[in-house]
Amino acid sequence: MSVTDEIKARIDLVSYVQRHVPSLKKAGRNHKACCPFHNEKTPSFIVNPERQTWHCFGACSEGGDIFTFAQKANGWDFKEALRELAAEAGVQLRAQTPEQKSESDRLDALRGLVNTASENFQRLLFDGDASSVLDYVRDGRGLSDETIRDFQLGFAPESWDWLLNSLRRLGYRDDDIVEVGLAVRSEKGRVYDRFRNRLMIPIRDGRGRVVGFGGRALGADELAKYINSPQSALFDKSRLLFGLDMGRRAIRESGTVVVVEGFMDVIQAHQAGYLNVVAQMGTAMTASQIQLLAPQLASKIVLALDADEAGQNAARRSLEVARETLSQDYAGRMSVDLRVLQMPDGKDPDDFLRRSPAAWDALVAGAPDVADFVLDSETVLLADDASVLEREAVALRLLPILMASENNIYRQENIQKLARRLRFSERDLMALAQDRQPIQRPAGAQAPPSDAPPDFWADDGGTLPPEASESGEQSVGAEAASASDRPAERAIEPYCLSLLLKNPNLLYLVNRRLRELAGGDDDLLRGPLRALGVEDFTQSEYRILMAHLQDSIAQDGRETLEYLESVIGDDLQAKYEALLVEPPEAVSQTLRRNFQVDLNDIFRRRLFRSGGRTSERDDLISRALELRLARLENERMEMQYLQEEAQAGGDGDQRHNDQLNAKIILSMRAKARINQAVSRRSLPTKQASIS
Ligand code: UTP
Ligand code: MN
Repeated sequence: MSVTDEIKARIDLVSYVQRHVPSLKKAGRNHKACCPFHNEKTPSFIVNPERQTWHCFGACSEGGDIFTFAQKANGWDFKEALRELAAEAGVQLRAQTPEQKSESDRLDALRGLVNTASENFQRLLFDGDASSVLDYVRDGRGLSDETIRDFQLGFAPESWDWLLNSLRRLGYRDDDIVEVGLAVRSEKGRVYDRFRNRLMIPIRDGRGRVVGFGGRALGADELAKYINSPQSALFDKSRLLFGLDMGRRAIRESGTVVVVEGFMDVIQAHQAGYLNVVAQMGTAMTASQIQLLAPQLASKIVLALDADEAGQNAARRSLEVARETLSQDYAGRMSVDLRVLQMPDGKDPDDFLRRSPAAWDALVAGAPDVADFVLDSETVLLADDASVLEREAVALRLLPILMASENNIYRQENIQKLARRLRFSERDLMALAQDRQPIQRPAGAQAPPSDAPPDFWADDGGTLPPEASESGEQSVGAEAASASDRPAERAIEPYCLSLLLKNPNLLYLVNRRLRELAGGDDDLLRGPLRALGVEDFTQSEYRILMAHLQDSIAQDGRETLEYLESVIGDDLQAKYEALLVEPPEAVSQTLRRNFQVDLNDIFRRRLFRSGGRTSERDDLISRALELRLARLENERMEMQYLQEEAQAGGDGDQRHNDQLNAKIILSMRAKARINQAVSRRSLPTKQASIS
């Protein structure tokens, strides 16, 4: 048994929650209370003792296991919850394994090495011999000595082995110096300094530890203006934002962060007194970088883009990532305000701040909303008499960006604006969006199914199996009552997670399928048919692994699985490995018996026998969709219970009851659609005859 399972076995969720929520009341098989995490008068908070899970069906729409509850109730992160609950349960946390211990010791040692190198670079800058470099920094770049020291700027001299020798003298080994990227080993085995004749800018992690460098060329003839530390166990550019360690407080206090492109932009901003500025260091922003900022630190992100084409392209990419990332998250979707700051006259923030530091605030405050920005930048060049084709081309470039917003009202407004600008009717524009928008509706994809029972039964003229009289939805009801008693139900989480970990692209496909199924119905899209995510898992470890998986897919620095493996902490390593080796077939056999797709399964098997084929990909998608089915079913049962309870107990809040009712209906609609989709794929064409 894993440590977390052991803790769960020893601490009952109901009594644990009761300590925080004394009003938790048992009734029937469940417990309910007013949600401790938001203000409400009628209970929407449920604890399910059999599954040892909790859920709020009110404003929070959150749930999970004892770890998520403890985290939320006490403001802990997972590690803290693990430590505290282990202590309470009297469960010994496994000490780091010897390998883990030596790995973390090794990283510490490497950090020490990088820090020593940084001190060496710094010292050299103020050495008499580097006076021309110091002049460049002071006069050429306009930095004060205070700024130079705050940012720990340094100098790497024109030499193949200056740093190597100074580190060797201190006892550091070549292998380690190469590993952190400060030296390079040639094919012939010769080792030499990576950074030569460069201004050295240390890059620090969120905790202020130097983990890498940006080196700016000092000679005009250098090929690369900046050389950065390569990706290593220590330095992961996609998870770092330059200046975040120094700017965190200012960002939190102002709620606004300005993301710029370059090192110098940040340094100059700090010198001018604007501390809420960080840099993405030249590449497009990654999801992990956004998650460092929003929503917990900032509710407003201003992307400050250079005016050049590279800047524009990075911008576009960053915007897409930002939209995606923020829309996955309830809080983010609701409150993060994304803006684009176009620097005037082709200047970068560094130039601008040097010339007119006092005007920066107004510039930032005037940054337009992202949708307005893309609308303007694409339509401004369009001539008054532009042809339909030209206008269509603009529409096709803009629609994917505008449609990416999951906020229906906002999206609608922007589509209206675009229609006006391009002199199309809204209907024509929407038609264009439907036709050409690859994500919303891939060419040849079926229209979203109606919520009626599957219609394929009608196709084969009376040779229906006896079960066929039941629609997907009804067949569920009969089994639902006892579903939660079945041990296999809990297996669906590891089963699906294991599928996703083995096929990360599956996540994208499943989400696309969910979007298709929602078919533009915003309530479904944001509710029961929203992208597969952390909330589809009740167990904390699976939730964390899922979050890591999402990050890994979103980042673009490295191969997904390689990245994933690098971010999984010691505490989850074992779980992760177990999921990777788990044979899904074995689980799925048990699972099959517990899901309402049974009926469809009968069909599918017949089809297999009669030569019908389902692609492996579709099969995987369906299996991952079962996770959502399981969740919807559990939620529906719990909501129904809440409703019955409210009626029985005379908690006569009609509005609350109506809201629950609406949610239950919505959930059932979603489920019917998924059920239908899962079955429909086994009937690709009408000629699929039933033997
Ligand atoms: P820029 O080319 O805009 O440079 O690259 P800059 O910040 O204005 O630099 P200065 O003012 O001339 O010194 C923006 C950022 O892109 C990354 C760096 O992080 C840089 O700050 N970059 C740029 C590289 O990593 N390598 C390069 O060769 C160029
Ligand atoms: Mn510049």
